[in-house]
Amino acid sequence: MPMWAGRFEKEENELTNEINSSIKIDKRLYKEDIRGSIAHATMLGECGIISKDNSKKIINGLKEILSDIESGKLEIDLSKEDIHMFIEEELTNRIGDAGKMVHTARSRNDQVAVDIKLFLREEIINIKKLLIDLIKELIKISKNNIITIMPVFTHMQDAQPSTIAHYLMAYTEMFRRDISRLNDTYKRLNVNPLGSCALAATSYDTDRLITTKLLEFDSPTLNSLDGVSDRDFAIELLNDISIIMMHLSRFSEEIIIFSSNEFKFVELDDAFSTGSSIMPQKKNPDICELIRGKTGRVYGNLMNLLTVMKGLPLAYNKDMQEDKECLFDSIDTVKLCLKVIVPMLDSIKFNKEKMLEAAKKGFINATDLADYLTKKGMPFRDAYKLVGQIVSYSIKNGKSLNDLEIEEYKSFSNEFENDLYDSIDLVNIVNSKNTIGGPAPDTVKKHIEIVEKELSKI
Ligand code: ARG
Repeated sequence: MPMWAGRFEKEENELTNEINSSIKIDKRLYKEDIRGSIAHATMLGECGIISKDNSKKIINGLKEILSDIESGKLEIDLSKEDIHMFIEEELTNRIGDAGKMVHTARSRNDQVAVDIKLFLREEIINIKKLLIDLIKELIKISKNNIITIMPVFTHMQDAQPSTIAHYLMAYTEMFRRDISRLNDTYKRLNVNPLGSCALAATSYDTDRLITTKLLEFDSPTLNSLDGVSDRDFAIELLNDISIIMMHLSRFSEEIIIFSSNEFKFVELDDAFSTGSSIMPQKKNPDICELIRGKTGRVYGNLMNLLTVMKGLPLAYNKDMQEDKECLFDSIDTVKLCLKVIVPMLDSIKFNKEKMLEAAKKGFINATDLADYLTKKGMPFRDAYKLVGQIVSYSIKNGKSLNDLEIEEYKSFSNEFENDLYDSIDLVNIVNSKNTIGGPAPDTVKKHIEIVEKELSKI
């Protein structure tokens, strides 16, 4: 029988319970629920709202419940409405009347808000740790490939020469922004809603600063209606996770393309690939495809909660119970993807010869040839046009820019001298791009230093 049955004359329909119950999902919040209740009971005792003795009984009872759940001695009863009801009932079964006092000056509305915040706070830290592991892996590979030439692309067409290190360090920037976004979310989340009660606070002489301190929040929420009806922090986290997944998905997409037979820039380790049930030659990049695919569901979770919240009048509405499924799913998904991508990258083989070969083919030094003429005084647009003609000539003759004889160059412009070959040499080009953010080895090394210094402070 539900706790609130006293007000009703008829029994609850089975289906009412089925749709109303959330315990299958929110059972994951047992630790946070107990922590929140211990803080609340401590405050009730300290403020003289319940006796110190009862406060102690509640706290000890809750601690025992926690250890019994963790040891497997106490199984969470999935026939209860939600985790809050389950724990309160279990407490009362264990300690009698004192258990019935834990809900004084509290509602499940502020209780669930505080539980989710405590849960998300820890998960933000977990996700950040995984992002740091990934950045460290990218740095490790980059350090070994500071001068490994690879072509980089715009419109997926050969564009300019760069290095594996420069390419991978681009991803560290994305993941650093992800960490900073999580930090922002954490700051705005870390405000204590406990004490808002159902929606209009309480006439008991509670001290919200006590629970705020015990639960390590920065401050209490300043409006009780907002305290129980705010899920901005959850939406922000779903957004942060969506952006992380977007970054992982772009990276995955590139690995899929680069591991194709047409590119062969990278080869995935057998341990992180899968085969085909019919085509014996296949080695498929399923992990990358799954990361890319799961991104869709994570985006959906964000849209899910935004939509749940968009029409809700103040304050709590049961619609908000739907917040947990999408949150847990996005958190589990991003953590799994971050976990698997690190060892996958660690075992990936870069086919350096293939990358260099490709870099030599695609006229990716054409811009530098134009720059060569510009540095000799030719206006850039003229140089650009002339090099376009040289590229066209080379294609027709099946040559690369490096293969053309000096005479052939001179037939286009007398500005060309023998030193042109230095300026279109791929290594020289990369070395010359030493402006902040460029692929020159020393520049990338400095970038790595900055990122490593930042990581050492986290
Ligand atoms: N299981 C509910 C949830 O997750 C707890 C809050 C219930 N509050 C209420 N007024 N029925 O949102």
